[in-house]
Amino acid sequence: MEVSDEENGPSPNKPLNGTNGHDRKRQKMRKSFPNGAAVNGVNGVSKAQHLQEQRAQLPIAQGLEALVREIAAHDVTIILGETGSGKTTQIPQYLLECGAFPGVIAVTQPRRVAATSLAARVSQEQGRPLGTLVGYAVRFDERTGAETRVKYLTDGMLVREMMSDPMLERYGVIVVDEAHERTLRTDLVLASLKKILRARNGEESGKGKARAHNPLKVVVMSATLDAEKFSKFFDNAPVLYVKGRQHPVSIYHTSTSQVDYVDAALRTFFQIHVDQPPGDVLIFLPGQEDIESLESSIKSYANQLPSNSVGVTLCPLYASLPNAQQSRVFTPTPEGTRKCILATNIAETSITIPGVKYVIDTGKQKEKRHLARMTGSGFDTLLTTDITKSSAMQRAGRAGREGPGFCFRLYTEEAFDAMALSSEPEVRRSSLTSALLQLRCIGHDLETLDFMDNPDAEAVGAALRTLWILDALDETKRLTKLGRSIAAFPLEPQLAAILLASVEHHCTADVISILSLMSASAPLFPDSSAQRDAASEARTKFRHPSGDHWTMLNVFRAYDEVCGSESKGGRRDWCKRNFVNERALREAGDIRTQLRIVCDRANINKEISCGQDESPVLKSLVRGLLQHTALLQPDGTYKQAMGPSIIKIHPGSFLTEKRSPAIVYNELVYTTHIYARGVSAVSKSFISDFPKRVTSGRAGS
Ligand code: CDP
Ligand code: MG
Repeated sequence: MEVSDEENGPSPNKPLNGTNGHDRKRQKMRKSFPNGAAVNGVNGVSKAQHLQEQRAQLPIAQGLEALVREIAAHDVTIILGETGSGKTTQIPQYLLECGAFPGVIAVTQPRRVAATSLAARVSQEQGRPLGTLVGYAVRFDERTGAETRVKYLTDGMLVREMMSDPMLERYGVIVVDEAHERTLRTDLVLASLKKILRARNGEESGKGKARAHNPLKVVVMSATLDAEKFSKFFDNAPVLYVKGRQHPVSIYHTSTSQVDYVDAALRTFFQIHVDQPPGDVLIFLPGQEDIESLESSIKSYANQLPSNSVGVTLCPLYASLPNAQQSRVFTPTPEGTRKCILATNIAETSITIPGVKYVIDTGKQKEKRHLARMTGSGFDTLLTTDITKSSAMQRAGRAGREGPGFCFRLYTEEAFDAMALSSEPEVRRSSLTSALLQLRCIGHDLETLDFMDNPDAEAVGAALRTLWILDALDETKRLTKLGRSIAAFPLEPQLAAILLASVEHHCTADVISILSLMSASAPLFPDSSAQRDAASEARTKFRHPSGDHWTMLNVFRAYDEVCGSESKGGRRDWCKRNFVNERALREAGDIRTQLRIVCDRANINKEISCGQDESPVLKSLVRGLLQHTALLQPDGTYKQAMGPSIIKIHPGSFLTEKRSPAIVYNELVYTTHIYARGVSAVSKSFISDFPKRVTSGRAGS
């Protein structure tokens, strides 16, 4: 990459002190974006025509025919290209337009926002409504139709599809995009594709085996220089390089490390905004919480600027952002304002936003980590960690797409030097429970499948144990009928087990609501430290003596009633008054709709409620979360029923009775103590209903 790394340049460390060494003359904001007017159909150029012109100008446009020839000539092709060159949007369209590839073209993405926004863009370029020729499929949301020929989907969805279509027969081409990210699902897809290719295309030609009638093409696309590894994995598949357009980027580091990176980002943003020429700003932050907090600080400071100042258009961008808000990132910056995009690492390589000239990099990301050994369970935790050198370079590169750019790193040069080169593949650091179960359903074995990097034996063992405890696998590690039912739900196996247990206990309607809230990415009770007393008083009326699960259910039930009678504004007021997060409820509402559909398909009556009787719900929870139960000790702490850890109930819990003999919890958080969060008191007998599991589980730990 041609990013010039001016770490020893004239004035590093300056962004936080206000002098950046380059042109500080205040320039007038450009009146409109080069592509702004035309996109809106002004200047006599239609939107469609303009999109076609944009397509033709992408760096990849010149080489497309050659690329397609290569793809046609080989079973597997590896494509390596700089971010923004047009790989993800153009290659699938070209494969479609050239007419040489029958069947559906699948394009996998590690993130749902990328899948949905790319599908929207490409259907626009095709001039067809989204969900017709071009569609998408992500967990809890799908827009495709009978005529869909190009389908953007998450790698997780493709794994799910393999469960009903093990040879992926409906697809003629599978493009595995963003392969460099090496998510667990991408690795599962790659390993499975190797098997599928052999079955569908036959052994290497020349060995006498006839080519199948429905051959499969695989295209692996990556934004970083790791092509050789993919090529080796696929029997030395050819590697094609796509050149991008990368202008030089000046990089600055801070002189001291910044403890509060959100505050540092805030100050850096305003120094750019006030002192620097026009150009949009892209800020990389680890996650939604930081994005929301920075968004509101920027908003309030921007309001204090003199009235003749340039305005700020804020665009947050993170994985669970509602579809309607995603598209704002791509709309041209309103005249007389500067766009400020607050993004997670999704904007590193998956999504390219036009107009960015300045990048602010906090150097942080959220990373999935599995704590199997500490928690004795199969859940992942998201931790904020330092990014890798490879990410830092990608982030800087985003500033140089359309002209020379600037990257302000909110960390020291030494910190950059100390960063790992690239991150460990997720298969080495996340829970394998759901992956292992899904593979069993496809008839593949996690233990014997050929992976790019083999999973850790201990993690495989933990996953096997969890699945056995759930009764998804039998004593001989074979898939059970229950295991197959569990895998049919788009939920972690533990949560799916709770849902299935709710059928037995006649409380499916209630459990679906609770699981939906547990699956929502936004917290139901946001941290309201500023108005702690008011918040806790408002929330008291929802509090249920058994603890957090029923309290959540009470909120959801109350919200459902409000939805039945109130307007949109009324609902919002209600949420505000009660200090509950409306977005969490809306997201949970969508998830609940999807889970209800899955229940219908599985012939499960989703309407049955246990009314005010809490036991059926708690029994169901224990069934799936057996590894998340703990028993009271004489000293008032709790000890895991199936693990060694001593835990305390999180102070934020709604559970009033702090000395209940047994508890079930959603997760553990590690601070000064190990705290259980999302806690309900349960009867000890609910746990001892599974004596064999508990004792053998303990023996195994
Ligand atoms: O995959 P790669 O990074 O090579 O590029 P791409 O995602 O195909 O993007 C090609 C171009 O389309 C970029 O310049 C994007 O800015 C543009 N694009 C857009 O304007 N709106 C979208 N929703 C998606 C892409
Ligand atoms: Mg791409």
